[in-house]
Amino acid sequence: MGFGGNFLIFGHRGAAGLAPENTLASFRRAVALGVDAVEFDVHCVQGRLIVIHDDAVDRTTNGRGKVAGHTLATLRRLDAGGGERIPFLEEVLACLPPQTGVNIELKSQGSGAALAACWPGGERDVLVSSFDLAELANFRRSCRHARCAPLFHRRRSDMLAVARGLNAWSINVADHLANRSLVRAAQAAGALTLVYTVNDLARARQLAAWGVKGVFTDYPNRVSAGGRRGDRQSDGQR
Ligand code: G3P
Ligand code: CA
Repeated sequence: MGFGGNFLIFGHRGAAGLAPENTLASFRRAVALGVDAVEFDVHCVQGRLIVIHDDAVDRTTNGRGKVAGHTLATLRRLDAGGGERIPFLEEVLACLPPQTGVNIELKSQGSGAALAACWPGGERDVLVSSFDLAELANFRRSCRHARCAPLFHRRRSDMLAVARGLNAWSINVADHLANRSLVRAAQAAGALTLVYTVNDLARARQLAAWGVKGVFTDYPNRVSAGGRRGDRQSDGQR
């Protein structure tokens, strides 16, 4: 649990393949399946951090329109799946055991400053990541000792330079970017490599053999502590 293991399993948006993503039900499901950490996405609305992936509510709730176009009160009334609400950051942290790590992905402008202002600290292992490198740098300026990670979906020649500039703990890359030489180059630059989104046990094992530190998965039942041991989880291969 947390970031101390050899190969880390991050429940992606909780257990997004098994429960409504980024909801308390999803995070509890991931924890029950033995993840080391959960990953989730935050937007800043009226100074509060709420946990939702898209910049619009349409795909994941019964509402319509941009997240930023709603008040907190309206957002909190929406159904995020199975009667779940869009959670606040604090609610997610409160529902997780202290030994479960978290990866907080900054999605909206202002989310870095808002997170720095309410930095959870404490014993929990926390990693802060973003595709928005300016937002991540904002966060980094306020929280110099926090773990952070730039996210990359497309190959860039300066990925490791970006990581060095942020004093990043890891680079977090899309599965299609991951290869042995990138992992080695990151190691040489002092950064770990995490890979998203990996829902296949064989692929997770290949990445682990290359020295990847961990994967984000929608299906912790496939790629979980049990997966690391090589056996199949009882709740199947959905
Ligand atoms: O942090 C890994 C992954 O969550 C990044 O992509 O689109 O699922 O937020 P996305
Ligand atoms: Ca994410």
